[in-house]
Amino acid sequence: MVVTDGQVSLKHLVTMETLTNDEVLGLIERGVAFKEGRAEFSLDRQYFAANLFFESSTRTHKSFEVAERKLGLDVIEFDAKTSSVNKGETLYDTILTMSALGVDICVVRHQEVDYYKQLIDSRTIQTAIVNGGDGSGQHPSQCLLDLMTIYQEFGHFDQLKIAITGDLTHSRVAKSNMQILKRLGAKLYFAGPKEWYSSEFDVYGTYVDIDDVIEELDVLMLLRVQHERHDGKESFSKEAYHKQFGLTTERYAKLKDTAIIMHPAPVNRDVEIADSLVEAPKARIVAQMQNGVFVRMAILEAILRGKV
Ligand code: CP
Repeated sequence: MVVTDGQVSLKHLVTMETLTNDEVLGLIERGVAFKEGRAEFSLDRQYFAANLFFESSTRTHKSFEVAERKLGLDVIEFDAKTSSVNKGETLYDTILTMSALGVDICVVRHQEVDYYKQLIDSRTIQTAIVNGGDGSGQHPSQCLLDLMTIYQEFGHFDQLKIAITGDLTHSRVAKSNMQILKRLGAKLYFAGPKEWYSSEFDVYGTYVDIDDVIEELDVLMLLRVQHERHDGKESFSKEAYHKQFGLTTERYAKLKDTAIIMHPAPVNRDVEIADSLVEAPKARIVAQMQNGVFVRMAILEAILRGKV
């Protein structure tokens, strides 16, 4: 057992859908406690973590690594390009190997939606799986850092007017966030190109023209245009996207003084958001990255608590 005053205990974290509201709020509050230096935490033995990223990442990969080192975990290097993945090793066999080596936690990003199902269903694999993003499926740690950022700003989620705008169908961030924000009482709007909207999102919010709601919003959550998932089939230029759907300086001026702008990053500057607005007073993009370290510490702690 680790010595901790945290409350949440998890075997794996692969999707937001299986977390209760109490667990979500517990992880957020614990992230805040780590950020404010109030959290008590120590390890009773050596623990190993491996970060296995089969898709590109800067923030998720490196903030998990910072979080692991802050908690005192031993971080095992893994580079898919120089591993036996090159010899045809499957994801299952890579994780089976990590488990056999005694790695306690594997943080995994992989292009296949739901890749984690066969891993957590395995009777042999003992390592805990933390999903660092599965294709266009889920991104639970990004969702939790987004929630922590909103919670730090407003202290609650109930009746907050939040617009999620942009590349909705390809975004794992959008899917994780819409499910949980609706459950926590937020009023959701969706905006962006119609071709990147799906009627399956209707149960969570209302599809709108961003200019019809911009003055009412508490949170404007911009999504990255995921060029790598489009196969060159975008029907508009970057300039046209920015003008019609992006955060221009004109739209920024219409936001309430208390409104905040979020973006999971990496940002396509002058596409989703004007270059000059990335660090503007209402922008919380840097705060999101900072909070990512602390909420990931809370996630890792909850996983360690689950290892009894
Ligand atoms: N937001 C996010 O997931 O960024 P990375 O792809 O850099 O990890």
